Amino acid sequence: MITPGTPAYARGAAILAAGGLVAFPTETVYGLGGNAGDDAAVAAIFAAKGRPSFNPLIVHVLDEAAAEPLVHLDDRARQLMELYWPGPLTLVLPRRTDAPLSLLVSAGMDSVAVRSPAHPVARALLAASGLPVAAPSANRSGHVSPTTPLHVAEEFPDGGGARLQLILAGGKAEIGLESTVLDLTGPTARLLRPGSVTREELETVLGRVELAGEADGIKAPGMMTSHYAPGLPVRLDADSVGETEALLAFGPDQFLRGGAMRLNLSQRGDMAEAAANLFAMLRALDRPGLSGIAVMPVPEKGLGVAINDRLRRAAAPRG
Ligand code: TXA
Ligand code: MG
Repeated sequence: MITPGTPAYARGAAILAAGGLVAFPTETVYGLGGNAGDDAAVAAIFAAKGRPSFNPLIVHVLDEAAAEPLVHLDDRARQLMELYWPGPLTLVLPRRTDAPLSLLVSAGMDSVAVRSPAHPVARALLAASGLPVAAPSANRSGHVSPTTPLHVAEEFPDGGGARLQLILAGGKAEIGLESTVLDLTGPTARLLRPGSVTREELETVLGRVELAGEADGIKAPGMMTSHYAPGLPVRLDADSVGETEALLAFGPDQFLRGGAMRLNLSQRGDMAEAAANLFAMLRALDRPGLSGIAVMPVPEKGLGVAINDRLRRAAAPRG
């Protein structure tokens, strides 16, 4: 783990060019990056994560110009890029037949998810490498996403099968929830994964935005239930906490007595603060010896929609 500076970016770029993996911070969560044009590097990402290979990956680019050779951009895509890039909005777009990308990043589909991260460390790495970088969240499949460089190191104690050669540190991920994923391959935009760019915001730009249903599972494998599961069972909408349970609170929690351990997403009920804390607190409460994690209700509005989406997945029956 090293704190970035020019030599670190040059080293990261060299590792990517040679087919190795580099973990890096984004404004949402930490990513496990590999050269998106290199089949072996993309396969190494799947292997390191232990991820089912039908899950397509997000390709990270510096800007719209860098996305141009990869996907077909329509007016909707350009408008959204103008408004939200760089930032936490991923767009699924038709893949160019001559896109210099591994077929594996699309998991056999004719679309590619592209995103331009805002975090300066991610941008410096992309600029230094000049490559499109495939990067899922830097956790083992099924675990909660990492929001600090230490989480990443904990996820891959063996260096991800020796391919993970560098973890660029860039503090705590500011947003703490993965990007919003919007499918623009059809005539009506479809929200595949809720995030901090909300459906309401997108609808003010695009008109109607459909919600992806469960039937679209394969189009949005990141929507799979139990995708964000801690080891302990998770109980939602808790208005009490058992003696051997951990409590994940939201808002004032002094009236809720008990619990073996407790953390508060946001004492003052601030959604952005809660989102930023969510994955780190789920990790911290996931202790052996406890019987489960009880989670207080989070209002289903604004960022709360994305927070509740992740919480429901954490609580879903394990697949
Ligand atoms: O915030 C983020 O997006 C983070 C950081 C590292 O950028 N990345 C991330 O990647 O969350 P990952 O692989 O954990 O999630 C990718 C999501 C999944 O829901 C996946 O199914 C969807 O994007 N996705 C990727 N390519 C797709 C495609 N071609 N069609 C439909 N969905 C796609
Ligand atoms: Mg993930």
